[in-house]
Amino acid sequence: MDAIRIYGGRCLNGQTVIQGSKNASLPILAATLLIDGVCEIENCPDISDVYHMLRLLESLGCRVEREESLVRVDTQGFSACDMPSDSVCVMRSSVMLVGALLARTGQICMEYPGGCVIGARPIDLHLQAMRLMGASVEERENGFCVEAARLKGAVLRLPFISVGATENLILAAVLADGVTVIEPAAREPEIQALCEFLQSAGARIEGSGTGRLVIRGVEKLMPVRYRIPADRIVAGTYLCACMCAGGRIFLRDAPVRHMESVLACAERMGAAVLCEADGILVTGKDHENCCDVVTTACYPGFPTDMQSLFMAVMALSGRAGRIEETVFENRFRIVSELCKMGADITVCGNTAHIAPVARLRGAIVQAQELRGGAALVIAALAADGTSIVTNRHYIDRGYEDIVLHLRALGADLELA
Ligand code: UD1
Repeated sequence: MDAIRIYGGRCLNGQTVIQGSKNASLPILAATLLIDGVCEIENCPDISDVYHMLRLLESLGCRVEREESLVRVDTQGFSACDMPSDSVCVMRSSVMLVGALLARTGQICMEYPGGCVIGARPIDLHLQAMRLMGASVEERENGFCVEAARLKGAVLRLPFISVGATENLILAAVLADGVTVIEPAAREPEIQALCEFLQSAGARIEGSGTGRLVIRGVEKLMPVRYRIPADRIVAGTYLCACMCAGGRIFLRDAPVRHMESVLACAERMGAAVLCEADGILVTGKDHENCCDVVTTACYPGFPTDMQSLFMAVMALSGRAGRIEETVFENRFRIVSELCKMGADITVCGNTAHIAPVARLRGAIVQAQELRGGAALVIAALAADGTSIVTNRHYIDRGYEDIVLHLRALGADLELA
């Protein structure tokens, strides 16, 4: 039961409500460790990465309750101890706990975090910057220990932009002694959400959403209630599903103002996109203009997380296209699987060249990471015949019941 069977050929119609953001909820859940008391996180997505983060918090003595999309984290029983290594290793965001735990306890040892295999994904930036904040770091074969009786504010000039390092260093800095400057800081909306959460708890952070963050350490943070914003990548996924399968769907709650580059790309490729106050109306599949070049970049550029989803759209467009991946060095794992469905895609260095084909056909294909897995599902919606996408657990890391959502939009698919 770790697969999805898709019968291609149905177009999509109706409305889907966009879930809360995975990449915002994970660092915010880690940030609750900085606060003594009960935080309430609304609109928390029901996905396996969140489940693992909550398990990690529980293993640290926190009490966690979930009532539908509301998660309550009570950190009053916190006691530093070993975290379950299966949860640490399964997702990259466990690294967020380093900044938070170091600030809270002055010491943390853990295994190297896991996550999707989309490149080397080292954490050297995180650890180097923590050294600058006065921490001692000892690296071992499978993990590392970081220690600092008290973190000190510092000017942290990072060699390049990293979302995870920016988040981790914010968590390390909000309770540190003195002022920390992070530059260049990532500007992703999920970082803005983390800053908003911490600011509402009493943190002093300037420059949220810009490339330079100035954080003045405070003594203490207060418990808060915070609503996780909608997931721009999930909204983009259903947008691409509609572009592949055709039809017209409304993406309720889609975070329009954080999707500019994706919406512009969708329009260039022939989708009709109408932005409204409460979401986005998409009409898919007019591939008249669908010859395009997509280049991934840090926010506000085109998100690397959307790249494989647009590859599915481009593979079905009947036109030539090109995707340049500049963020991760190994993010074309979907190519061999799309080729099994009849796509004609070749990879040269960091560029994938998509040649026109008349149709895609159903096939048995393997999800190898989260977004690539979802991309195979949406390609299969438009392929001739039946497809099976195996390794559904990758997709479950980031999507609340994708089968149910797509079925509600008229697609024909089931768990297999
Ligand atoms: C986050 C997102 C992920 C998204 C990515 C880029 C979460 C949970 N994940 O991942 O969905 O695709 O941002 O938008 O929010 N790097 C180093 N050393 C480091 C840190 C990063 O070399 O210490 C490299 C990485 O290997 C990668 C690049 O920097 O090539 C960008 O990575 P980063 O921005 O840190 O991505 P993540 O935080 O892992």
